[in-house]
Amino acid sequence: MPPVIKAVDLRKNYGELRAVDGIDFEIERGECFGLLGPNGAGKTTTVKMLTCALPLSGGDITVEGLSVNEDPRGVKYLLGVCPQEINLDPDFSVLKNLIVYSRYFDIPYSEAKKRADGLINRFHLHDKLDRPIEDLSGGLKKRLLMARALINKPKVLVLDEPTTGLDPQSRRQIWEEVRGMKKNGLTTLLTTHYIEEAELLCDRLVIIDSGKIIEHGTPGQLISKHLEGKGNLEDVFLKLTGKNLRDE
Ligand SMILES: Nc1ncnc2c1ncn2[C@@H]1O[C@H](COP(=O)(O)OP(=O)(O)OP(=O)(O)O)[C@@H](O)[C@H]1O
Ligand SMILES: [Mg+2]
Repeated sequence: MPPVIKAVDLRKNYGELRAVDGIDFEIERGECFGLLGPNGAGKTTTVKMLTCALPLSGGDITVEGLSVNEDPRGVKYLLGVCPQEINLDPDFSVLKNLIVYSRYFDIPYSEAKKRADGLINRFHLHDKLDRPIEDLSGGLKKRLLMARALINKPKVLVLDEPTTGLDPQSRRQIWEEVRGMKKNGLTTLLTTHYIEEAELLCDRLVIIDSGKIIEHGTPGQLISKHLEGKGNLEDVFLKLTGKNLRDE
């Protein structure tokens, strides 16, 4: 089976800074694939190139064989994107945020309303349906971002730091959702700098630092290869880079 996502020699320069410095990875169908790395590692830059929000400086990424360089519109239709920054529209209610977003995918209103109602129930947002965005807590905003990411029934879900800044309970709720979606076979790309999140959710991951992939494998493989099975991914990161993932 060909991979769902394939990145080849992917690069992004901001002036002199090589934010993403020639990375390669493949994501198989149905897996949750992680980009684990500290602040400034290049995770969001990678996500933005994948989601056609930022032009590439070099290389390519394909989604189901479609290139972000050649067919960005085709790629966008396949993806559900939950960005790191909360970019909900503050002028609209919870429901209207979902409906307006569905227009980017040419989803007819009646279908969009049906999907939005289903997602609002699933993400426990029903009692906030008509509320403005400013009335939502951080956890509810993240849940709405995730609901919005699913409105176009994506083939791949892209979650950029889905639980950063959330309290442990909201974090656990998001983890449950991601696990549920994985059980249903949804392919997911997740970025995080939380060790527990990477260990719990990711089938395979790459460790990324200063724009480069420094190691890849399953969490178990990385821990047994670098620590003889004793420790966690944070210790692996420390051993490989001399840096502490939490030193931020
Ligand atoms: N628009 C920009 N212009 C210049 N430099 C940028 C820009 N966006 C990001 N950078 C730089 O590129 C590097 C990678 O940033 P990026 O946001 O991809 O990191 P990240 O891994 O997502 O970090 P975080 O965990 O903080 O979200 C950083 O050094 C950052 O300062
Ligand atoms: Mg980021």
